[in-house]
Amino acid sequence: AGAAQNVQAETISAVSVPPVSREVTVLYGSQTGNSSGLSKKLAKKLEEQGLQVTLSAMGDFKPNGLKKIENLLIIVSTHGEGEPPDNAIPLHEFLNSKRAPKLDGLKYSVLALGDTSYEFFCQTGKDFDQRLQELGGTAIVPRVDCDVDFDEAAAEWMNDVLASLSSTPATAGTVSSEAVVAAVSSGESEYNRTNPFKAEVLENLNLNGRGSDRETRHIELSLEGSNLDYEPGDSLGVFPENHPRLVDELIAAMDWNADERVTVNKSGEQVSVREALLRYFEITAVTKPVVEQLAKLSPGSGLTNLLANDAEFRKVMNSCDLLDLVQDYSLRGIPAAEFVAGLRKIPARLYSIASSSKSFPDEVHLTVRTVRYEARGRERYGVCSVHLAERVEAGDSLPIYIQHNPNFKLPENPDAPIIMIGPGTGVAPFRSFLGEREETGAEGKTWLFYGDQHFLTDFLYQTEWQRWLKDGVLTKMDVAFSRDTEQKVYVQHRMLENSKELYQWLQEGAVIYVCGDEKKMAHDVHNALATILEQEGGLTSEQASEYLTRLQQEKRYQRDVY
Ligand code: 2AM
Repeated sequence: AGAAQNVQAETISAVSVPPVSREVTVLYGSQTGNSSGLSKKLAKKLEEQGLQVTLSAMGDFKPNGLKKIENLLIIVSTHGEGEPPDNAIPLHEFLNSKRAPKLDGLKYSVLALGDTSYEFFCQTGKDFDQRLQELGGTAIVPRVDCDVDFDEAAAEWMNDVLASLSSTPATAGTVSSEAVVAAVSSGESEYNRTNPFKAEVLENLNLNGRGSDRETRHIELSLEGSNLDYEPGDSLGVFPENHPRLVDELIAAMDWNADERVTVNKSGEQVSVREALLRYFEITAVTKPVVEQLAKLSPGSGLTNLLANDAEFRKVMNSCDLLDLVQDYSLRGIPAAEFVAGLRKIPARLYSIASSSKSFPDEVHLTVRTVRYEARGRERYGVCSVHLAERVEAGDSLPIYIQHNPNFKLPENPDAPIIMIGPGTGVAPFRSFLGEREETGAEGKTWLFYGDQHFLTDFLYQTEWQRWLKDGVLTKMDVAFSRDTEQKVYVQHRMLENSKELYQWLQEGAVIYVCGDEKKMAHDVHNALATILEQEGGLTSEQASEYLTRLQQEKRYQRDVY
C-alpha cells in the first residue's frame, strides 16, 4: 500500500512542482551507539513517508558515492578534543581533501551530537556542515547541535527533516523525544537514560593494594527486575551525586537558604536547593550555555566580557567549577530559583562494563578509578568516581542505564583471535570479553596487554587473568608496570618486543581492541601498531597507516578510548 500511495503522490506533484527525489541517504558516525540508534529511528520514519532510504555507518560508506546522492542526512558525534569518532574519520578526511567532489545540487542536513562541557562542542558536526556547504550543498534544515541530553533537540530536528522531505508535510512531524530515547536504548527494558533503573549496590571494593598511589573501585550492581541486558563492550551510564562539601560551599558563597524550594524539571517538581544541587544539576563543569544564563542574571558581573573573550573563556572552562565562578565574578545576589533554572541537568558518567552477563546473570560490574586532585588551593573531585568511592556502599542504590556500543564488540566468529590492549581501568571490558568467551566456549586465541604503575599494588584482577591463563581462556598475557623499574615500560613497549608474533596474529585475522586513555596511550599504541606493520610487513609508513584505517573499516581494530 505504501508504494501505491507513493506513486500517486508523485503523479500529483509532478503536475504542479518539479519532481522531488524520493531517495535519501542517512549516514551516521559515533563512538557510542547514540547516532546509530537515532539514524535507525530516522530511517524508519522516512520509509513510513514513502521515501527510499539508504542507511549506513560512515565507516562502511564509500566516499566516492557522495556525488550520486541527492538527499543526505548526517548524524555524527564529536569525540575528545573535537575529533571525529573513529568510524567517521575516513569520510571526514575525504571531504576535507582535494579529492572531495563538487556537490552542487546536494540537499543535506546535519544533526551534531556533543557535550557543552567540551571546548570543541559538536565540532565534527560543524565540520561536516561547513564542508558540504562549501562543496555546493544546500542545507534543507539548519544544523542542530545537541548537548548530552539530546532527546528533545534531536526529535525536533527529525521532525523538521521529515516535514522538509515529505510530500505531505502536515502529517510528517511525529517523532517524540520519548521515541528518540527509546531508539537509542534498544531491548525490552522500560529503563533508559531518561528513566534510569535504581540498581542495588552489591559490592564496592578497592582493587589497589595498600601503599598504592591509586584507588580503583570494583563495583557490583544488581540488575534484577530491570529487564536490562548488555553485551561485552557496552557501557553503563551512572548518575552521580555532587560532593556535599562543594554544594554547601556554593550555598554559603551565594548566601542562600539551603531549604529554599526550587523547581528541578519541566513537570514542576520542587525540592530544596541543597537537594537540587546534590542530585539534579551539574555544578562542576562551566559550560557556555550556563555562563550565558548567569551573565543575563548578573549583568554587571563581567561574565559578558568573559564570554566575548575566547581565550579567557577557554581557560575558565578548563579550570573552574561553579564555586570558582561565583567567587571570581561575585555572583552573590542571584536568587537560588533563577540560578538553578540556568544550570545543566547532571549528566550520567559512562563506564565500560567489566562483567559478562553470561558469567554474572542479573549483575553488572564496573572498574572505576577515583579522581582527586588539587587546583587553586582547593581539593577537587571526580564527581562520579568520588561519589562511588566515598559515599556509596552495599545496600545503597544508584540510577543507571545501559549504553550500547556497537563499535566495541567481540568478533562474531568465536574462532577469531583477539588482541586486547587495556592498561589501567582500560582493562575493564576485557574482563567482560574473557568471561563471555569462557561461558560460550569460544576457541579463538586471546592475548592481553596490561599495564599500570606497580605490580604489587596495581595489578587489577590479577587472580582472574591468571586463572584464565591456566584454563586456556587467555592464551597470552604481557604486562608493563611502569614504575617498578628505572626505565618506564608501557604496553606499547611490550607490543614492540613481541612484534613478530603480533604481526603473525594479525595475519591470522586477529581483531585488535584498545581501551583506556586516549590522548597518550591510545595514540602511542597506534604508532606502535604502525611500527610493527613496517618492521614485520615491510610497509612504508603511509602503507601502514592505510592498513590500520582498513583494519578499522573492517572492524578489526576497535577502540573505546576516553
Ligand atoms: P605512568 O603513570 O607510570 O606514566 C595505567 O595508567 C598505566 O598507563 C600506568 O602505568 C601509566 O604509567 C601508563 N601510561 C602513562 N602514559 C602512557 C602512554 N603514553 N602509553 C602507555 N601507557 C602509559
